[in-house]
Amino acid sequence: MSNKLVFGVEGLDKLFSDVLKPPATIAIAGHPGAGKTTLAATICYYNALNGHRCLYVSLQEDKVKLFRNMKNLGIDLEALEGKGLVKFVEFPLYSEVSEIANEISKIVSSESFGVVVVDSINPLLQAVEGDYGKRAWLQNYFYNLARVVNGVMVLVAELPFGREYIELGAIEFVVDAIMILKHSIERGLVTRRIEVRKARGAPLHIAEMLFSIEQGKGIAVYIPPMLEKIAREGREIEIPCRKMKSIMNVSAHLHKGMVVYLAYPPDARPLNYIPLFIGMAVLNNMKIHVISYLYPPEAIKLLIYRSFRDLIELERIERIVNRFVRISSLNPFMYSIGELLHKELSMILEDDDIIAFHGIDVLQMVVHDRGNYMQNLYNQLNYLKDEQKLIVRIGSIIDEEMYRMNAAISDVVMRFELEHANRSPVYSLFMWRRGLTKPFILREDELMECINEVSEKVKQLSI
Ligand SMILES: Nc1ncnc2c1ncn2[C@@H]1O[C@H](COP(=O)(O)OP(=O)(O)O)[C@@H](O)[C@H]1O
Ligand SMILES: [Mg+2]
Repeated sequence: MSNKLVFGVEGLDKLFSDVLKPPATIAIAGHPGAGKTTLAATICYYNALNGHRCLYVSLQEDKVKLFRNMKNLGIDLEALEGKGLVKFVEFPLYSEVSEIANEISKIVSSESFGVVVVDSINPLLQAVEGDYGKRAWLQNYFYNLARVVNGVMVLVAELPFGREYIELGAIEFVVDAIMILKHSIERGLVTRRIEVRKARGAPLHIAEMLFSIEQGKGIAVYIPPMLEKIAREGREIEIPCRKMKSIMNVSAHLHKGMVVYLAYPPDARPLNYIPLFIGMAVLNNMKIHVISYLYPPEAIKLLIYRSFRDLIELERIERIVNRFVRISSLNPFMYSIGELLHKELSMILEDDDIIAFHGIDVLQMVVHDRGNYMQNLYNQLNYLKDEQKLIVRIGSIIDEEMYRMNAAISDVVMRFELEHANRSPVYSLFMWRRGLTKPFILREDELMECINEVSEKVKQLSI
């Protein structure tokens, strides 16, 4: 049996474990459907699992329904009830406050519990509303109860729809932390947030985080990468092509921690940047992790193979891809923006040197709050920079504004354009790097010369 009491939610335990030092009282508040019961049941379950018995007092939730719903989320209260680790007590709606209070007192003084949940305290709050004497009594009651329990009291407060503020009235002076759960709809998906306000304890007084409730998994909290400083760049990456180097002169290298934006027309998506980047990775002994919003891994592999046709034989490319390239695919529409950017961070390994986001336009097409998106993205990129990744963001130019926003947060911009005189289209590559006095343009033949040079160097390696 572990001595510490826990939330049973990784993110909360990381940031707020001090809140649960006994005797502690926390309030979980929010609108109906926000996830209050789920969070309370999670706290109850994981402590009971650790041997700290839990008393769940329900003034609102039906036992059968609650146990069934929680079981779907991986919280098997029934199993622990069977072992005597969870005790469920239900009060009829019309019970008198004093009756409920006495009954709870009786149970907690005759048996010992690590966690006591009251879901919800609304009937108690309503009964004392407007009566200062009774309010003081209820406040005192919870204060004393927490000391008798000498564990964690979890008070659930239901906030009626249409009301934004919680008047905890009688109890706000006895709680050590208030967790406010909120939910809204973004792109047809539920976005859930948890706001933690601490009344006592550690340095973080208020924080808002995204969370999700998932089948079989329960609650997961996403901790944003909060970096106060703007990350700095790391070691040099050599550009393996004489032509580019000579034009770029003193800035003829990239750095780990840079953001490269590679843009092309949506109706003329080139392939020849692929050998350039993979060649650069291989020659610098760096691993690429491609995260595509557009194609499954197999399709990306085929694109890579095709891009090397006439340059390097297939078997060697297959070996190179196996050794240097990792491919993940992600449907960006499965998540809210905050969740998506966090999910991506969770997919990235320490081993990955270059993170290539492919098809960023697919997501950017449908973002309606560009300010919010850019803010989340900026934090994500800063986090990756600090992790010393080279970030390559690849996508079609869907509109001038989005192109400019992407370029503005990048250290290197590579923009393919298509010229089509005499029915034979030819690419040119506009290129800018922070620190260059001027951008420059490579013609397609110069780019091919560059790619040939890179391929020759890669062929010399014994891979
Ligand atoms: N199996 C499940 N998978 C995903 N979400 C679920 C599942 N079961 C319940 N939920 C979500 O959990 C929420 C209900 O949470 P609940 O803790 O009962 O809210 P509250 O107590 O704040 O009213 C609902 O919004 C529902 O969408
Ligand atoms: Mg509930």
